[in-house]
Amino acid sequence: MKKWGILTVCLVLAGSLLAGCGEKNKDQASVSDNGKAEGKTIVLGTSADFPPYEFHKMINGKDQIVGFDIEIAKQIAADMGANLEVKDMDFKALLAELSSGRVDFVISGMTPDENRKKEVDFSNNYYKAQQAVVVREADKAKYTTMKSLEGVSFGIQTGSIQEDIAKTIPGAKITGLGKINDIIMQLSSSRVDASIMEKPVAEAFIKNVKGLAIANAVPDYQEDGYAIGVKKGNKELVDQINKTLDRLNQEKKIDQFVSEASDLAASK
Ligand code: ARG
Repeated sequence: MKKWGILTVCLVLAGSLLAGCGEKNKDQASVSDNGKAEGKTIVLGTSADFPPYEFHKMINGKDQIVGFDIEIAKQIAADMGANLEVKDMDFKALLAELSSGRVDFVISGMTPDENRKKEVDFSNNYYKAQQAVVVREADKAKYTTMKSLEGVSFGIQTGSIQEDIAKTIPGAKITGLGKINDIIMQLSSSRVDASIMEKPVAEAFIKNVKGLAIANAVPDYQEDGYAIGVKKGNKELVDQINKTLDRLNQEKKIDQFVSEASDLAASK
């Protein structure tokens, strides 16, 4: 299993004159009164294990972080006239990185639940997805209801809302892991028997990994959708982000990014 650790990928946006990669870690975006951060670098925190939202892909022989959250991040940076730097880390590290200012914003298929809202601020919601239970194909018939999952061993991403969902299943034995790729490995090798993740992510993995399937059991969870996190109190940046989201919604760009990212995730 590849451990990516913190991989920093520099995406130089069209229209920004400075070479983003040479600039990284220096000028973090300081958003001025007009909400612009011209010539600056804005740092995105994400956990790039979540196709089609954010994932690693070899493109032209180079490992890149792609996905529809990343496309949204590029649009936000472009609207601010800033370069975008992407920092990949474990999902559970994201909020602390945001609060400490090591990243400027977080887009990571993140559900703005009440606990997180105490720690950071969120944009408007930009997408909604349902939950799914992933199991080995051979076991699919066993897990038709949530009741049938009682006492089962789960591989779950640490710090995710799926951890909360799994904890509500009586007798569930939970193994917390940093990256979803590791969960998929553990599931394939029978070290855990089930996982819970958003349905589009489950679909992307089962397309690429043989022997896994989505069970008929469906977690009862009211999903609010995903939102973009910023440091508590950074109203200027939230307003700027919401403006970009409004524009993307108006231009029907979000749906386009979703379908493009899904194709990319499915392609070899
Ligand atoms: N929506 C879930 C949550 O907010 C899972 C997000 C996981 N994201 C990721 N990039 N691995 O907890």
